[in-house]
Amino acid sequence: MPNSKTNYRDGDAFTRLSKRSGYRSRASLKLKEILKKDILIKKGMSIIDLGSFPGGWTQVIKESAGNKGTVVAVDIQKMKEVKGAFFIHKSITELEDNDFEEFREKVPFDLVLSDMAPNISGIRERDDAQMIYLVENALSVIDRFLKKGGSTLIKVFQGESLDYTRNALSYRFKTCKVSKPSASRSNSKETYLIGKDFK
Ligand SMILES: C[S@@+](CC[C@H](N)C(=O)[O-])C[C@H]1O[C@@H](n2cnc3c(N)ncnc32)[C@H](O)[C@@H]1O
Repeated sequence: MPNSKTNYRDGDAFTRLSKRSGYRSRASLKLKEILKKDILIKKGMSIIDLGSFPGGWTQVIKESAGNKGTVVAVDIQKMKEVKGAFFIHKSITELEDNDFEEFREKVPFDLVLSDMAPNISGIRERDDAQMIYLVENALSVIDRFLKKGGSTLIKVFQGESLDYTRNALSYRFKTCKVSKPSASRSNSKETYLIGKDFK
């Protein structure tokens, strides 16, 4: 796997590697790195992927959870099918119990993932506020649809949304840690928080 310096110099070594591997986005490689170190996806698990388009994370979690696993992807942008995964085409702010009718027995989920991001304006206060709004909605999904003992992985920006989310996860989960995979550009503000053992 290329390191982040190679990536920066080469233009986008991680993007090329993800394409060669058949993934729809370089985000897949970030998730793979995090899973390798910090989150175990077992066959048969049920997982919801918030902000899934174009589907790189969905591909990775479907591979990991296998045929018996249930993977539900949600995005406001229409996403091409990932074989074996369900797709809900709406904003996560509008998710309701009825959306899960088809796989009712697999809810609550074992794992809630959020790679959601707002449209970046470049105005720090505005981008932070929008990211916090998305996190608040991801937390609402966690509170309603994650099983006790389950885990989460949430993308945030360094700064206010990181502090906000770390506090919110520490309150809800037995452990909470930060992870910055090398496939994430070193000049990017994005970072990831992992909560384990939902209380
Ligand atoms: C960085 S992309 C996700 C990349 C994806 N994880 C992958 O691996 O291909 C962030 C996504 O969040 C989605 N998003 C932003 N706000 C959302 C909302 N309120 N509900 C659902 N999806 C949202 C965007 O449409 C965008 O597709």
